[in-house]
Amino acid sequence: MNLVGNGIEIKTCEELQNQPLEFQEAVIKIVRSHAVNELHGAKVFDEPAIALAPNPYAKWLTCRVAMEEYGHHVRFKELGDELNIPEEQMTPEGKNPLSIFEFPLETWPEFCVIKLLADLAEILQVEDLIECSFIPLRTVARMTMPEEKFHAKFGEDFTRELISNDKGKKDIQDAINRYYPMLPSFFGKAGSKNNEIFRKWGIKKRKNEEMLEEYIKLTKELVNNKLNLELPSIN
Ligand SMILES: [Fe+2]
Ligand SMILES: [Fe+2]
Repeated sequence: MNLVGNGIEIKTCEELQNQPLEFQEAVIKIVRSHAVNELHGAKVFDEPAIALAPNPYAKWLTCRVAMEEYGHHVRFKELGDELNIPEEQMTPEGKNPLSIFEFPLETWPEFCVIKLLADLAEILQVEDLIECSFIPLRTVARMTMPEEKFHAKFGEDFTRELISNDKGKKDIQDAINRYYPMLPSFFGKAGSKNNEIFRKWGIKKRKNEEMLEEYIKLTKELVNNKLNLELPSIN
């Protein structure tokens, strides 16, 4: 049953058309969700954050982050076009947003925390795709990964700068307390049928609950040990 997961590689969109419908639909689902979510995040967080950034240097780097997040949408959408996914299925309009996008961004420290925590979650998602069975998706993931790492580093660097004084530390901790509990749902439900199909066709490697467990471990290391801040309980 797990043929693709055992090393078969599908090199082109044309080749995918000869694969079982379940495999094709699973690829489409992943490409669609990345196209939608990258655009949504760019619109509600990254682009508005340019106005929140406190100085020209921070604005410059935030512009780069916004450009790259829009670029991620463009990349996934281009692959979606090749897979004949209708355009309206690849934009956030008319879709239920992921809860992580419902955070009402109002301040610069909040944006830094979003990059610190949400982009680390995105890195884990892209990590699986980097080794997936459908090579065009693997290629898009490989181009995206260094940029997602830059976004997480951006979040960490500006967070460090802010927590060097009491007011900034309080603002960052407050943003973590409000944003971190929104992250677990980003990984999807435990025992997910969709995830089982993604794993069956070699698109993902880990179960949702395994990825969440890894995320919690990494955020504990980062927030508790490296930054000396607290994580709210999420259970
Ligand atoms: Fe992205
Ligand atoms: Fe990102």
